[in-house]
Amino acid sequence: MTTRTRILTGITTTGTPHLGNYAGAIRPAILASRDSNADSFYFLADYHALIKCDDPLRIQRSRLEIAATWLAGGLNVDRVTFYRQSDIPEIPELTWLLTCVAAKGLLNRAHAYKASVEKNLENGEDPDAGITMGLYSYPVLMAADILMFNAHKVPVGRDQIQHVEMARDIGQRFNHLFGQGKEFFTMPEALIEESVATLPGLDGRKMSKSYDNTIPLYSSAKDMKKAISRIVTDSLAPGEAKDPDSSHLFTLFQAFSTPVQTKEFRSELLQGLGWGEAKSRLFELLDNELGESRERYHQLIERPSDLEDILQHGAKKARAVATPFLNELREAVGLRSFVSQVQVAKGTKKKVAKAARFVSFRDEDGSFRFRFLSAGGQQLFLSRPFKDAKDAGIIVKSLQKLNALDIGREEPLSSEGPFVFVVWGGNQIVADSPEYSSTAERDIAISELQSEFKSSKSESA
Ligand code: TRP
Repeated sequence: MTTRTRILTGITTTGTPHLGNYAGAIRPAILASRDSNADSFYFLADYHALIKCDDPLRIQRSRLEIAATWLAGGLNVDRVTFYRQSDIPEIPELTWLLTCVAAKGLLNRAHAYKASVEKNLENGEDPDAGITMGLYSYPVLMAADILMFNAHKVPVGRDQIQHVEMARDIGQRFNHLFGQGKEFFTMPEALIEESVATLPGLDGRKMSKSYDNTIPLYSSAKDMKKAISRIVTDSLAPGEAKDPDSSHLFTLFQAFSTPVQTKEFRSELLQGLGWGEAKSRLFELLDNELGESRERYHQLIERPSDLEDILQHGAKKARAVATPFLNELREAVGLRSFVSQVQVAKGTKKKVAKAARFVSFRDEDGSFRFRFLSAGGQQLFLSRPFKDAKDAGIIVKSLQKLNALDIGREEPLSSEGPFVFVVWGGNQIVADSPEYSSTAERDIAISELQSEFKSSKSESA
């Protein structure tokens, strides 16, 4: 069986996608999902959004817009698993299991947290001023997103590479602690698409909402036109030759044009095409490329209940993977049903051969003895000495045939004890218990001994 490559990525739902998001992340992800070898998981990281944003309306609006953007862009939800993080309760549950194995020192080193601390220090504030546990634990939540679905490849921006590495660290630690040789989690790899353009914004810097230099994606043709008119160019007049390679307008054009269109535009600029004309060409290109999906986008936005259905369907698909996997992980850490716990405990004992047991040995004086050890390795009684190894062996065999040990409580020498018991084998005393400080303690030890003895028999059966 060939396994498909599981590709997983999340989109934090705090804003409205712009042209840069589309070219840099959305479009390549949709294309990658069409590969028959890809098993894609794309989701709205709305729990992550709560870390950065405490405006419920904005969160809600952004989730809707981002969902519609992906669908309008041609994401085929029958091929991929497309869901909201907050519809998968297994993710926060896994987050807690991972939080309990994640080293605090690891999270201290996270870039996002460190940057906030440094900023506070620069401003002469308390290092942790305004820093929430959400921001601090952000990489653990992200690790849960990734490990929950055993993703192989995680397409992300460079700023997220460290988080994928942390997911590996945390997953590895969990595997080591609870896997008993089994690798629960696949080790994910960050996927940085070098070929994908980082689009320049209106001013030539990277297109980003924080620079206020974005071109809107689906708002309206008019808004797009208005933004394009604000693209900064040099002051060469029409008729003067323009250098395409130093023009970010050209870079934007190139990100959406065919090689033939690119070549044509390049030579027109060299021949002195005016910037006004050049902006119209860019608008036409984008409008051609995005006009149809813009229409789909607005249809989707107007039918939130259809979007809801699509995402509920995606959640169902995702949970079909997450629910059984999380059950396995809960078992592994010991969060088990009391009924299955007994069975599992027995099963693991068998595997590691740690049942209660008789152990024979030769004493310093040359005599032969045996002890009975609990599953945990504690000595429950020690035999009297035998001259012959064979005699000791016969006694052990005869004890093992019993349904329960034949125990005799000895009278203490004084009211202070010591309180001991003996073990009978046939008609003789064959072993002595350790000393106990009260009859109650001795009685508990005897009942524990009997149950250990019983389990040692079912193990060897
Ligand atoms: N933190 C990512 C970002 O801001 C979004 C994200 C959340 C993510 N969970 C993820 C990306 C899991 C990849 C995999 O870009």
